[in-house]
Amino acid sequence: MRSAKVTVTALIRVIYDALQSREQLEGVQQTISRLSALNLDGEKCLPLPPETPLHCQSELKAVVDHIPASLKTIADAFSAAAPYLNWNAETGSRAGYYEAGADVGQSFLDGNLVCRLVGPGDSFFFSEDLFLSLFFLKPRTLYRDHTHQASEMYFNLTGPSGFRLGDEGWVDYPADSVIWNPPSRSHATRVYETPFLSAVSWVSDLDSVCRVAPRDDWQELEAQLQRN
Ligand SMILES: [Fe+2]
Repeated sequence: MRSAKVTVTALIRVIYDALQSREQLEGVQQTISRLSALNLDGEKCLPLPPETPLHCQSELKAVVDHIPASLKTIADAFSAAAPYLNWNAETGSRAGYYEAGADVGQSFLDGNLVCRLVGPGDSFFFSEDLFLSLFFLKPRTLYRDHTHQASEMYFNLTGPSGFRLGDEGWVDYPADSVIWNPPSRSHATRVYETPFLSAVSWVSDLDSVCRVAPRDDWQELEAQLQRN
């Protein structure tokens, strides 16, 4: 019988399997080792209510069509778990992932969702040393440059999407790519036509506060994305 316990646990397991076959990529091993220490028994899966905020419902439904064949096991597991996932928007107006009042921009406020799979609280599985979330951004969203002390891995399930890492210029990353953000290096994401879905982990400093790292081109970038 399908349930959150069955489908969400299966989704985490296939993400874990996919990461294992990409373990040579920088930053992947830290997530694998923390996941391998977890007891991924469905009975340990905590009861979070299904939740999909209305403002992203149609885009979220479409995102699975953009997960490539190389990640088919994840696409299938994601489809099965979709009715049970607990998505929340980062509002920027409360203390949480961002410091309260952070200038995250309207496109981010209108277009982000996070589903916490593993973590110290409000997650399907409890861990003290790993955050693992699904992170969704609508098409034409700018996720403005930001920093945190936590070491972070993005396992991008869709693409291409643009990333600006530290002082480097924008680079497009395809679906099935991995990005490693060392502590305190700024990073930004811009989403084109394809909705963005990534499995994102924090493997250190889970109590970090996320802060915007101001750039003078945010408004122009947001306008460009809206025009295209
Ligand atoms: Fe980050």
